[in-house]
Amino acid sequence: MENLSVGEVAKRCGVNVSALHFYERKGLISSARNTGNQRRYGRDIIRRVSLIKVAQQLGISLEEVKSVFESLPKYGAPSHAQWERLASHWQQQLDQRIALLQKLRDSLTGCIGCGCLSMQRCPLYNPHDEAAKKGSGPVFLLQDE
Ligand code: FES
Repeated sequence: MENLSVGEVAKRCGVNVSALHFYERKGLISSARNTGNQRRYGRDIIRRVSLIKVAQQLGISLEEVKSVFESLPKYGAPSHAQWERLASHWQQQLDQRIALLQKLRDSLTGCIGCGCLSMQRCPLYNPHDEAAKKGSGPVFLLQDE
C-alpha cells in the first residue's frame, strides 16, 4: 500500500497538518519516517483521522477516542474483526450520547429542570425548583426514563 505524506493525509481528510501532528503527539495516530526523516502514513490512517474528525464534530473528546482506539494496532490497517471489537465497545457510549442528544432536541422549548424557572412550563414541571432535590444540573434531561 502506498505511503502518504502528512500534507496528502491532511488534504484528503480536510484537516490541518498541525492537527495531524497534534493527534500524533496525543497518541491517536502513528507515522513512520522515511530516509529524509519525514513522516509517512499508510493509507489506512485516513479512516482513523476521519473518525477522529467526526467524533470531534459530535463533541466526543480526544481522550475518549484515544481510549477506544487503543484496541487497534498502532501501525497498519486494523482487520474487520478489530473494527468490530472497537464498535461493540463504543456502541453503548454512542447510544447513550444519541439518547441524550434526542432528549435535548426534544426539550429545547420545555422545562429541563435546571432551576432557572424562566420558561412558561417551569411552574408546572418544576414548581419552586423541586427538581433541585433530585440533584444538580438539568435533572430532567439527565435522569433516566
Ligand atoms: S427550564 Fe430551567 S427550571 Fe425549567
